[in-house]
Amino acid sequence: MLTSSSCTSETRHSRGTTGDGFGRCGRIIATLAVFLLSAQTALGQQIAALTPTAEVPPPEIEAWYSDAQADRGQRAYPTTCGGCHGTNMIEIFSLYEDAGRWFRFASGSMPADNPGGLPTEDYLDILAYLMREMGFPAGPDELPDSRSVLARIMPKASREILGYAAYDEQYDPGFVPPIGNQP
Ligand code: HEC
Repeated sequence: MLTSSSCTSETRHSRGTTGDGFGRCGRIIATLAVFLLSAQTALGQQIAALTPTAEVPPPEIEAWYSDAQADRGQRAYPTTCGGCHGTNMIEIFSLYEDAGRWFRFASGSMPADNPGGLPTEDYLDILAYLMREMGFPAGPDELPDSRSVLARIMPKASREILGYAAYDEQYDPGFVPPIGNQP
């Protein structure tokens, strides 16, 4: 805790040395102020989130991948992933908050018998295939290995807009995806 003795002793200590005029105490108070300010902002956001009138913007949907890329993923999936995951991977993918998390986990830890052993393009191809299965639209460009692009693809929030419900009955709706284990 912040006690006056911790302040005074530090102040005494630093007097006449660095001379920034604030000492440890001032810094602690400044830190506290910033903390309180951000806590207040967080609280305000929480209240806003709970208010029924607060509108969550719809997720972006763009033509992020190409059909040729999804075709490659569709060919690779059965042999590289399907042996262990069956068709459930489509449902698993659809429950991720964003595609970047799926990509980081898959490219870091999968296939389980060869973690991270595939070329990056293969993971992107399979991701494009899963996106197509969910109903995301295809376009002229391939899905890039880009953190910022993958973060904008939000499978879970897009389920309804895409009319995706195909595997609902086959999969545990309580499934929580693991957190990606790569930076
Ligand atoms: C040899 C079996 C095996 C293969 C092949 C395999 N996986 Fe997995 N996968 C697992 C196991 C077991 C888990 C659960 C362990 C864990 O969560 O760390 C898992 C978990 C996952 C998860 C997290 C969601 C979940 O169900 O827990 C993803 C995403 C995933 N795998 C993607 C892939 C992809 C993509 C491929 C193909 C490139 C692949 N896996 C190939 C065995 C496999």
